[in-house]
Amino acid sequence: MNRSRRLILGISGASGAVIALELLRLARSLGIETFVTVTKGAELTIQHELGDEARGEIRGLATGEYAMAELGAPIASGSYPMGAMIVAPCSMRSLAAIAYGTGEGLLARAADVTLKERRRLVLLAREAPLHEGHLEAMLKVTRMGAIVLPPVPPFYAGLSSLEDMTRQIAARALATAGFDPGDSLRPWQGLTGSATD
Ligand SMILES: Cc1cc2nc3c(=O)[nH]c(=O)nc-3n(C[C@H](O)[C@H](O)[C@H](O)COP(=O)(O)O)c2cc1C
Repeated sequence: MNRSRRLILGISGASGAVIALELLRLARSLGIETFVTVTKGAELTIQHELGDEARGEIRGLATGEYAMAELGAPIASGSYPMGAMIVAPCSMRSLAAIAYGTGEGLLARAADVTLKERRRLVLLAREAPLHEGHLEAMLKVTRMGAIVLPPVPPFYAGLSSLEDMTRQIAARALATAGFDPGDSLRPWQGLTGSATD
């Protein structure tokens, strides 16, 4: 089993469900296996932000999908070989569950396992503005080894559409989780004509 080509994707109920969809499309095109769990909150945001067909597309793109209540799923155990986990988008509720290791629901349990196994955990935490509790939870997960990667578009990358923007966010998340995003990620090339003296 190739651990390094396997990704757990937790989809929670923050705004930005399209990022999860784009991540799954990109992972599929890169040959990365995806093991998905979707929170109740995300069922709402997927429906509200993407419409009727998206839920089926998510299910179809995933290598495997497990219900939040399925605490006996393979991704609930550290012995199951996995490369990394991304939570995209990551709500403040799921962030808090991870920060305090509640292990309540499969998303928080899989994240807890990812941290205890010292694998990469990337959280695309989305809320605005942020209060002290949100910031404290971000600091706590960072100290525990997770990477907080807010889904902020790279405005320098000459983005031409919402799809382009979402793809860059998804590609950056995969790269941060340790996967090679291939040509999909447009890195900063430096300012043309800028010279250092
Ligand atoms: C359309 C919509 C957008 C939302 N956007 C956010 C958001 O950006 N960040 C957030 O933390 N919660 C957001 N919420 C609230 C969460 O869905 C809610 O707190 C939920 O209980 C999160 O639980 P979960 O982490 O289990 O999905 C939104 C809810 C809806 C219906």
